[in-house]
Amino acid sequence: PGADAPELASAQAETTRTVSAAQIAREVTRRRTFGIISHPDAGKTTLTEKLLLFSGAIQLAGTVKGRKSGRHATSDWMEIEKQRGISVASSVMQFEYRDHVVNLLDTPGHQDFSEDTYRVLTAVDSALMAIDAAKGVEEQTIKLLNVCRMRNTPILTFMNKMDRETRDPLELLDEVESVLQIECAPVTWPIGMGKTFRGVYHLLRDEILLFAPGSERADQTFEVVKGIDNPRLAEMFPLEIEQLKMEVELVHGASHAFDLDAYLAGKQTPVFFGSAINNFGVREILDALLEWAPAPRPRDATVRTVEPQETPFSGFVFKIQANMDPAHRDRIAFLRVCSGRFERGMKIKHLRINRDIRVSNVVTFMASSREQVEEAFAGDIIGLPNHGNMQIGDSFSEGEMLQFTGIPYFAPDFFRSVRIRNPLKIKQLHKGLQQLGEEGAVQVFKPVHGGDLILGAVGVLQFEVVASRLLNEYGVDAVFEGTSISSARWITCDDKKALAEFEKSIAGNNIAFDAAGNMAYLATSGVNLRHTQERWPQLTFHATREHS
Ligand code: G4P
Repeated sequence: PGADAPELASAQAETTRTVSAAQIAREVTRRRTFGIISHPDAGKTTLTEKLLLFSGAIQLAGTVKGRKSGRHATSDWMEIEKQRGISVASSVMQFEYRDHVVNLLDTPGHQDFSEDTYRVLTAVDSALMAIDAAKGVEEQTIKLLNVCRMRNTPILTFMNKMDRETRDPLELLDEVESVLQIECAPVTWPIGMGKTFRGVYHLLRDEILLFAPGSERADQTFEVVKGIDNPRLAEMFPLEIEQLKMEVELVHGASHAFDLDAYLAGKQTPVFFGSAINNFGVREILDALLEWAPAPRPRDATVRTVEPQETPFSGFVFKIQANMDPAHRDRIAFLRVCSGRFERGMKIKHLRINRDIRVSNVVTFMASSREQVEEAFAGDIIGLPNHGNMQIGDSFSEGEMLQFTGIPYFAPDFFRSVRIRNPLKIKQLHKGLQQLGEEGAVQVFKPVHGGDLILGAVGVLQFEVVASRLLNEYGVDAVFEGTSISSARWITCDDKKALAEFEKSIAGNNIAFDAAGNMAYLATSGVNLRHTQERWPQLTFHATREHS
């Protein structure tokens, strides 16, 4: 099928915009859209780079690294500001590999951890979980996995850094199963570790992939020895091979066999061992992604489920990123295509404001070139420059009124109250926070009974970003102060009377409305939240809310 693709493309350019259902189906089938989830330092940047290297999208390692220089500047927003230019480009990396189109979405996992990270995961069809084999399951791995679980996102696991002294592999699997509550199906098994790391045994193919320290080259291959009983192995490393045979027997007995359906349902994760920095085991991951990971999946909308092969175009915005130039307040809305074919210059309907827009200026993300891609299909991401009329969760179509669902806001974990030094700037403050709230940079809560606005975030760096942007873009010098609030829950209740009573009876600043007008309870402690929930059984307290 790959051979006639250029012909098809040129025929299409010459003739009409119509595109056959068969072509759309073919394009959808060959797409994979995924994100890497990991705790900082587990190797996400390295892995990203090696994946791009294998695909030929970049020639030399070191290209993706730029971002790392910002890492030490934990609390230095200016550094991040500098990085913003490249971060638009590296937010989505599209590359071709073995006749497939792969979209790798970056999930910021470092100090810039924020709500973006969570929402990006609503735009992927599968995830790759990287774990530092010396450390095992870490805090942010848990948080991110819980987000994947909301949509039963299929997860591949990569146990990284086997060239170092790591934890016992069986113990690692055990930890994933018990802490992350997901079945493990080892696909490769390590032979030794650290200085005596010899390679991995492929349990499904009965092959041994011999480890050699990696190079920065793209075309590196590792020697394969067929069959665990191959006498060559016994010659090469007599000690390790006996150990391996014992372990493999144990693994076959004690762990789960790979089951594609269980993986696709998000109940089981195939596990690979390797060393990203040495390129080792990375190709196996990429191959598994092509062979097992799902092509773009159907997406739920308010009125119906949208199939990716449908001909009319549709999609939703999952992330907004402010552009570099503060004078213009340009923003880029990241839209995931859910169905049909997008073409530069086409007219699409912005459903929330019920207006047609013509999209001629669009950002696409081929990792290998600066060329603009002219078309996009389900699973692809396109960047739409705008001046603030697009929000997270906005849906677009060729006319049909459908609002995609499942783009969540997460209850913040960190809170600040906000004051301004110059009271004359109150209007600018409100405007700035309104816009930053719409962009998803921070959540803004206005207490019902008055008082300072409360900001909520899932990562503390969000506050710094907001303070800096308020100053630079809105001319507002705001002061953020700690508050007694420790968690927030959105409130819903069918019984209007109960809701009104609740609103009246709680004094202070603990009941507030967010930027979209939803009521929330701001609790001062876990105990306080539990008491309130017990006192008001008619009310439902939500830890997430959807775009409205
Ligand atoms: P992150 O994006 O998940 O934060 O991780 P990143 O790829 O930046 O990797 C974190 C560190 O781990 C880097 O060390 C990287 O070189 C190293 N690393 C990644 N994969 C492997 C591996 O397979 N084996 C070994 N031994 N190390 C690996 P670094 O450049 O020295 O950074 P830093 O430690 O100075 O922060």
